[in-house]
Amino acid sequence: MGFLADSLARIKPSATIAVSDKARQLKAAGRDVIGLGAGEPDFDTPDNVKEAAIRAIREGKTKYTNVDGIPELKAAVAAKFARENHLDYKPEEISVGTGGKQVLFNALMATLNPGDEVVIPAPYWVSYPEIVALAGATPVIVETSLESGFKVSPEALDKAVTGNTKWVILNSPSNPSGAAYSREEMKALTDVIAGHANVWVLTDDIYEHLVYDGFVFTTPVEIEPALKDRALTMNGVSKAYAMTGWRIGYGAGPAMLVKAMAKLQSQSTTNPSSISQWAAVEALSGPQDFIPRNAEVFRQRRDLVVSMLNQAPGLSCPRPEGAFYVFPSCAGTIGKTTAGGKMIGSDEDFVTALLEEEGVAVVHGSAFGLAPFFRISYATSTEALTEACTRIQRFCAGLR
Ligand SMILES: Cc1ncc(COP(=O)(O)O)c(C=O)c1O
Repeated sequence: MGFLADSLARIKPSATIAVSDKARQLKAAGRDVIGLGAGEPDFDTPDNVKEAAIRAIREGKTKYTNVDGIPELKAAVAAKFARENHLDYKPEEISVGTGGKQVLFNALMATLNPGDEVVIPAPYWVSYPEIVALAGATPVIVETSLESGFKVSPEALDKAVTGNTKWVILNSPSNPSGAAYSREEMKALTDVIAGHANVWVLTDDIYEHLVYDGFVFTTPVEIEPALKDRALTMNGVSKAYAMTGWRIGYGAGPAMLVKAMAKLQSQSTTNPSSISQWAAVEALSGPQDFIPRNAEVFRQRRDLVVSMLNQAPGLSCPRPEGAFYVFPSCAGTIGKTTAGGKMIGSDEDFVTALLEEEGVAVVHGSAFGLAPFFRISYATSTEALTEACTRIQRFCAGLR
């Protein structure tokens, strides 16, 4: 009998964190590496948010709090949902956790049993299938394609649902593809889910504010209010307010689910950091001008990266609606040999050779459930992006 839990054998460590670690190691060894693997804004947290945290410390708001959020933060979250999404949630329908990741983790752990299925469109955020597997349930992956803009069709979604399906996970705008569903596209999906009375939807809206070219964000319950009784709408301050290290995420759903999630949280982390909760109150309730300013910077970077990647032989990069990722195809490089003599048989070979020969760290698409692609995070300086894309162009031009 081994010492480690059997459940650990069912999951993989995060591929995105592994790439960032490898890039850091190479840098420490003196290599010139540009890391495009990390999923966090390079901007600093806004000053008003920092000040709110400092105030909280000075005022002694440094003790345990309610398990799933201080009343002030729940009120700020409810106001955010009302203001931005036209959704009406009461405090007992809101759960605050240590990052959006804990909210997702709690929801899945609190509801899944062995035999249950969770439908996840691919490419997906790496943690979804792993948390489902940790809970002993079965991820059911529905692949999308470059041609469909990495969006799942209502027909494919309907086909994936069985009598065992407990959740469908939607993530728009998506990590890793940046794809976001328009109102019409989302309505077609919520129609499918609404038609299966026992299926719940877990919508990960963490990139809500990072949409470009006038795209209008929508969330499933806003489009289909009938789903409110079987939906968890998840969001957080990490991406919109450049607060990844503060670890505050939240979700809204039926009180029964929120209560179950709090029970789990009470036996793990107790409550999210009191100081971070006060900072999040300010992020959600204070001035919001930070958001469109940053979104405009991200849009310019997206356009730069898409244009430069499409000039690289063998790559094809669609222009996504949101988030800060692009997900180009490297199908045209498969079967070729690099200038350094490495044969490219897969997207993983592509990213490994790119890191070794040109010092550019990106993540292979197969880590997100779809090959042969790779993900670039453009949440870094324009100079670094220009240099990285120049190196990618050189790498691709050198393939034989
Ligand atoms: C799609 C998606 N959901 C959720 C998260 C979790 O965010 P956090 O736990 O920082 O709130 C991330 C972070 O990378 C993400 O990309």
